[in-house]
Order: sequence, then C-alpha cells, then structure tokens
Amino acid sequence: MKLRTTLLASAVTLLPVATMAADMTIGFSQIGSESGWRAAETTVTRQEAEARGIDLKFADAQQKQENQIKALRSFIAQGVDAILLAPVVATGWDQVLEEAADAEIPVVLLDRTVDADESLYLTAVTSDLVHEGNVAGQWLVDEVAGEDCRVVELQGTTGSSPAIDRKTGFEQALEGHDNLEIVRSQTGDFTRSQGKVVMESFLKAEGGENICALYAHNDDMAVGAIQAIKEAGLAPGEDILIVAIDAVPDAHLAIAQGEMNATIELTPNMAGPALDALEAYFTDGTMPPKWIQTESKLYTAADDNQAVYEMKKDLGY
Ligand code: AHR
Repeated sequence: MKLRTTLLASAVTLLPVATMAADMTIGFSQIGSESGWRAAETTVTRQEAEARGIDLKFADAQQKQENQIKALRSFIAQGVDAILLAPVVATGWDQVLEEAADAEIPVVLLDRTVDADESLYLTAVTSDLVHEGNVAGQWLVDEVAGEDCRVVELQGTTGSSPAIDRKTGFEQALEGHDNLEIVRSQTGDFTRSQGKVVMESFLKAEGGENICALYAHNDDMAVGAIQAIKEAGLAPGEDILIVAIDAVPDAHLAIAQGEMNATIELTPNMAGPALDALEAYFTDGTMPPKWIQTESKLYTAADDNQAVYEMKKDLGY
C-alpha cells in the first residue's frame, strides 16, 4: 500500500486515499527495555498492530539516539507507510524528521516529546509529563503536612523529556513550601540497577536518617532504591517516603506491602490512540490534534493495590 499526502502543509490539499489498516506497514523505533513500563509499551504496541493486521517493523535502539536515527532512515528507505517513534532524548531530531517529511511519511511520537517544530510530526501521544511531577510533588506536600523533609530525587535519562518535565513539575509543586528541600538529585537512567546504585550513594552521603523522602521519575528506579534502603537497615515507605511514576505491577505490590507510598499511572497503551489517529488520517485525511494526551492517575495506600497488581501482573510489564 502506498499513499502519501501533504502532511506538512498547513493547508492540506491532497487528501490520502482511503485505505485499510491491514494494508499498512509501520516502523516502530523503540528506545530499548530500560523499565517494566517500556516492556509493557512494546507488548501493547505489538498487540495493537497485530489486532489491526498491521505489519509492524520493530527496531530496538538499546537506549541510543544514533540507533533510532538509523532505524528511521531504514524505515524511510523501505518506504513504510508511517513511523512510530519513542524518542530517547528530546533534542537532535530535526534532520531525520525532515527526511521523513520529505518522503511524506507521517511520524507519530510515543510517550516522549521532542524539541522540534511540530510540523515535523503528525501527532504526539503522551501524558502530561509536567503534571505527573506536579502530582507527585503535591502528594508529598500534603503527606508531610508542614514537617521538615529532606528529599532525594532519582531522575530519568538525562535529556529525555520525562526527566526534564517530571523534575519541573515536582519543583513547581514544592515552590513556597520551605519545609521541603531537594538535597540530592541525580540520574538513575530509568533502570532498577541504577536506581539502587544511586540510592546507595544518597544514603551514604546524607545518612539514611537524614532523608525523609524519595521522588523517583519512574517506578523501576524506586524499586531498586527500595532494595538499597532495606539493605541500609531502614524501612522503605516508613522511614523514607517514596513516590514515583508509571504504576507498574511491582510498584502496586510495594505499596500493598507498605514499602512504597504512591505512584502515578502512565498507560503503556500509547499505540492504540496512535494507530487510531493514523487510520483516520489514511482513511479520509483527518488530521489529529498535535497532542493526544493520556491520563495520569494517582495511586496511594488508600487504593486496593494488591488487586491492581493481580490485574496488571500478566500484561507484559
Ligand atoms: O517515557 C516514559 C518513561 O520511560 C517511563 O516513565 C519510564 O519507565 C520509561 O523508561
């Protein structure tokens, strides 16, 4: 199947010819498998494509932007109908996105944003990443209720939009609350192993008794940190409050067991809305909004996290 349109023109004059999803070949450049959430997104994307009869060409970039750029060029050379891109970092995409635009191949961003002109992609399916950080910060503000609290922060991958925006949102929530202070902040690259290593260094540098709370940009780093906190002889979730983002099954389990306090859900189903948008676009030229926003739900100990864990545990995380 081959149909192309003037994707980048503000006044679209050539409408795509009606087509069936089953005819589509779509390239998916995935970041890698750094977290449980990422694994689930890969699973769901494959399932969504299969259910629609789409031929999905999958490329694992192993955390490297250069691999993603190579994959995009390969998809363009193969003449795919569309590209799904989960961009590892926010900058450095203009050239390759222009190449896709020149080839009239629409690109849909999944779960992270890029610093490029929005005319260079069809739409972005993401959560409100600043809002997620804000919800985490607001939860902590409420939880400590004016008590002094020294906070450590595990950041996501340096230069990625969730690391940048989740930090911004959290800091915004803490503004005007002088009882809360971020005393250490370092990347744990969204992985469990780095979350543990960096938390160990925080505990050593500060002394565990001087850390009141941990904010991790994802659950995997929080789960790694929980291990470090236990090994330091402290009780995660009690001695050190823990709030993170993703709502992966292991985070629900940790909350159910009292070892973590809160998580904000990020749906791994970015592909469903993305493929809906592409299907509509190819069927009759419907232009999606530039941002398709997914929901962000806060889970705390007040929820039945054991039940949510049971429900999510076999979903590909
Ligand atoms: O871009 C989404 C983030 O990427 C998830 O929160 C994190 O787990 C993943 O690595």
